[in-house]
Amino acid sequence: MGLGERGRTSPLIIPGMIDPHVHLRDLDWVHKGTFASETAAALAGGYWAVLDMPNTPPPTIDQPALARKLEAIGAGARCDWGVYFGASQADNTAIYPAVAGRVCGLKIYNNATTGTLLLDDQAARAAHFRAWPAGKVIAVHAEGETVADILALVRLTGRHTHFCHISTAEEIALLRAAKADGLPVSIGVTPHHLYLTERDVQTLGALGRMKPELKTEADRAALWDAVTDGTVDVIESDHAPHTLAEKDGDPPPFGVPGLETTLPLLVTALRAGRLTAERLIALLATNAQRIFGVLPPPETYTVVDLNASYVIACERLHTACGWSPFEGMRVMGQVRRVVVRGQTVFDGERVLAAPGSGRGLFGERS
Ligand code: DOR
Ligand code: ZN
Repeated sequence: MGLGERGRTSPLIIPGMIDPHVHLRDLDWVHKGTFASETAAALAGGYWAVLDMPNTPPPTIDQPALARKLEAIGAGARCDWGVYFGASQADNTAIYPAVAGRVCGLKIYNNATTGTLLLDDQAARAAHFRAWPAGKVIAVHAEGETVADILALVRLTGRHTHFCHISTAEEIALLRAAKADGLPVSIGVTPHHLYLTERDVQTLGALGRMKPELKTEADRAALWDAVTDGTVDVIESDHAPHTLAEKDGDPPPFGVPGLETTLPLLVTALRAGRLTAERLIALLATNAQRIFGVLPPPETYTVVDLNASYVIACERLHTACGWSPFEGMRVMGQVRRVVVRGQTVFDGERVLAAPGSGRGLFGERS
């Protein structure tokens, strides 16, 4: 990236963008989105690949549910993909050796959120940590004091643990210390926790409700410090579409879409001098590739116009839910082209990849 005349810069090329935290829906929740619609959103957002969470019904916690999801995502996905297996309250650890090779990792929900997968018993958590094959990632939803509980299990078992959507200064401090101690942990932060706070819930209402909830300005500042100093490994969208009608309910379901707004929000930080291009590429592509042990195929990259400045508008989004908590925000950075295996799959306006053209990254349908 070179600074040219009047602050214009040449396009940024990102190799193999991957979002390791999305909820694509489909299956029993096709009304919220489908593998075809949400992977179109992924490509339009610049992504080569996404990793899908197990909490959409039927939850991915047994062999039939995994088989159904692999079949459906293989038939529907337009981008490359992996899926997580879910830890279940009803002990499902006996099948871990059989399923681990077909998934990107295990997800453990240690605090309440959308779906039915809460695991709040520390002894049960320990059993899941021990049973999951070493060498495959364990991704955890852990908030507040639960972060320390999970760190105790990391210390005990040595399993590589990815802490999803970390949102507070205290959690970041604990994890920074754990990294300094040499524990095998990685950290994800979402764009909504970097750009919004609890004050925005006053205007956004249900569209600003997700798990973890939006936090304080001091938490937001601590997250940015951790993003810029290298403590945070990945920016993950936690793309979680719900329909507007559902969001209108009382209580509203938790979750916000994010696949099409994450890259421009980070480019906006880049252009404001808050991030370097090297750091942006690490946060959106290479760190997640390293954590999950996948490399993009040859000729797989995203071309980003760093000069484009525009207002986020919902009618331009591909996600089936059709809304964004960032609507109306002025951002910089527009995806001009996504190339996968030498083929243009998004040309800046249209998604050109057909459903089913995406490939599984973890041993199935490749
Ligand atoms: O806000 C959230 N929504 N947080 C989660 O952990 C799950 C997600 C969903 O599936 O809707
Ligand atoms: Zn999530």
